[in-house]
Amino acid sequence: MPDTPIEKLARPSIQRIVPYSPGKPTREVQAELGPIDVVKLASNENPLGPSPKAVEAMAAALAEVYVYPDPVCAELTAALAQKWNVPAEGILIGRGSDEVIHMLGLAYLNPGDEVIYADPPFALYPLTTDMMDAVHVRIPCQDFRHDLDAFAAAITERTKLIFVASPHNPTGTINTAEEVERFLGKVPDHCIVVFDEAYYEYVDDPAYPDTLRYVREGRRVAVLRTFSKAYALAGLRIGYGMTTPEIAEMMVKVRQPFNISTIAQVAALASLADNEQVERSRRMVVEGREWLYGQLDRLGLPYVRSQANFVFFDTGVDSRALFDELMRRGVTVRTGDIFGYPTYIRVSIGTPEQMQRFVGALEEALAALEQRGEHGG
Ligand SMILES: Cc1ncc(COP(=O)(O)O)c(C=O)c1O
Repeated sequence: MPDTPIEKLARPSIQRIVPYSPGKPTREVQAELGPIDVVKLASNENPLGPSPKAVEAMAAALAEVYVYPDPVCAELTAALAQKWNVPAEGILIGRGSDEVIHMLGLAYLNPGDEVIYADPPFALYPLTTDMMDAVHVRIPCQDFRHDLDAFAAAITERTKLIFVASPHNPTGTINTAEEVERFLGKVPDHCIVVFDEAYYEYVDDPAYPDTLRYVREGRRVAVLRTFSKAYALAGLRIGYGMTTPEIAEMMVKVRQPFNISTIAQVAALASLADNEQVERSRRMVVEGREWLYGQLDRLGLPYVRSQANFVFFDTGVDSRALFDELMRRGVTVRTGDIFGYPTYIRVSIGTPEQMQRFVGALEEALAALEQRGEHGG
């Protein structure tokens, strides 16, 4: 056995990292409870599945995987540049938008630089901040929304990256176009504002900002989108960032060559051509959200109105105890304790049948906890 403890070798900032906690995989639930039918509403996936066009394109590309993929994703980049009317030189494709967040950190964060994000945050922002030995500046949400005035007030000479998740995860809220415009007016040009729009396709609030306008104007902003959610390709890992060519130039330097597999590239390209698949997913989510609000009203449980494919709500009981009861009934969700809200849960919007099963399980689980005399903490 080596004498030097491994902690002496690892960078101190890495030791501070709290590992990412994923939604409980279905196979783990089945390992514990046997081969039950599990409805996973824990990771904001899209149960309608990918476009048939994407499945066809992947099947056709399978025999070609002995060749390295296109390192610059030229076809996909050109298609995205055309779709969104932004410069192709400013587009970066990542293994999920997660990787684009990492690339922003690698390219721009020096030790001691400050990163501003909302509390509770999407987990990748603190992770990237620690990874680069940068400084966390957490701004508490107000009414579950980003407090952009407080973000602006927190900017210093050392601020480098500012993450604005819109819709936010776990709350599902957005900031209005007017709020974003006012905020950007106060951001100096040594900061890059990152609008993380993983749930963009599910937004139906007319006040939602067109942040790509700022990219086209050459402002110091980046807009992140993904194929994981509405396009239902989470398992392939592909997302992208759209920014100015000058911001992208530094990020390209830290991108791993061949980061995106051929299969992911062809699937994403084919998905872009299938509006019907996205529209169906969008409709399911918008209708599912409204249906769930009705059920939560009936049960007297307060919730945060969401623009994403999940709803964050107060169950009034300990969310971990509730999780166990729900799991026993074949439904998994995300507990609020990891976000600092111990009585809340975050549930993804699935198909109407899945949502019925969820609400049935929720009522039973709450009744079971009530009988045991467990109340919220
Ligand atoms: C706010 C937000 N940003 C980014 C992501 C990353 O998604 P992906 O890496 O699958 O593109 C997620 C995933 O849940 C998210 O909720």
